[in-house]
Amino acid sequence: MKTDEKAASAVKTDTRESVTFGADRNKDFSKEPMCLSGKGVTRVFHAGKTTTVAVDHVDFEFHKGELISIVGESGSGKTTLSKMLLGLLEPTEGQILFKGAPRDISSGAKKREYWKGIQAIFQDPFSSYNVFHKIDSVLLDCINMRGGRDLPKEKKNEMMTEACSFVNLKFAELTNKYPFELSGGQMQRLMIARIFLLKPEILLADEPTSMIDACSRATILDMLLNLRNETGMTVIFITHDIGLAYYISDSIYIMEHGKFVESGSAEEVILRPKAAYTKRLISDVPKIHEPWDLSTVG
Ligand SMILES: Nc1ncnc2c1ncn2[C@@H]1O[C@H](COP(=O)(O)OP(=O)(O)O)[C@@H](O)[C@H]1O
Ligand SMILES: [Mg+2]
Repeated sequence: MKTDEKAASAVKTDTRESVTFGADRNKDFSKEPMCLSGKGVTRVFHAGKTTTVAVDHVDFEFHKGELISIVGESGSGKTTLSKMLLGLLEPTEGQILFKGAPRDISSGAKKREYWKGIQAIFQDPFSSYNVFHKIDSVLLDCINMRGGRDLPKEKKNEMMTEACSFVNLKFAELTNKYPFELSGGQMQRLMIARIFLLKPEILLADEPTSMIDACSRATILDMLLNLRNETGMTVIFITHDIGLAYYISDSIYIMEHGKFVESGSAEEVILRPKAAYTKRLISDVPKIHEPWDLSTVG
């Protein structure tokens, strides 16, 4: 099938009723305030005699409320970029701006302040929790971080109950459990409940559905999209799945060997791809021009 034919059938499947989530194709996010941007962001690793340029002079502009997917194959530099966006790793070159101003994370206090604005959900939900902390303390920490330490106990319980019900978990059944007593899907939902309480301006989700069972994946994605729609937070979604990126994103950045080879609106990038690499990624995904099957959402 030629690219245009594929594009046409992709458009057709986009109007199917079964697609419960999807980007607001008509909204022009470039008019929204700038949330996070970068110029020439680069990260080089030296290990013995080998030098790896994991992220190579990337430029980006993410706006308020926008859902951005960064798509690339394994080893393309996605996680390294995520870590720099989160302030867990310093760029070796280039600059990251938060809400239009150069980001300053030079001290512990400044980092903690930055993390009120940006939070993450990682690939492996089990690595995100302290195994010795009960679940209610995970959620209570979020309320405290948002300045709610002195709220009455009933109010805190009410907030935690609301956050749990947002992700279809029952707070009363979780209070005395430890993270390892939950399934992977439940843990990721708990991560989303944390984000619901923390209300950061930006959520970075690095392959959040790749380690959980297929039937939980669609639910997790749906919840992430609800969160974006309800709170207006910017969501940066990291994935190797270009088909999924097309269905959920407003904008897509395609990453190859540490560089952005192409970026633009989801429509532009998927329906009118310019880079050979993007065309190859699209042709590798049979699902993009076949009926959408939620059970296989990856
Ligand atoms: N701490 C590190 N030290 C040395 N090389 C690294 C390190 N982290 C990542 N890399 C290398 O950087 C490249 C990009 O890795 P990564 O950002 O994990 O890509 P992705 O998340 O897209 O799979 C890979 O070649 C990887 O081996
Ligand atoms: Mg990765």
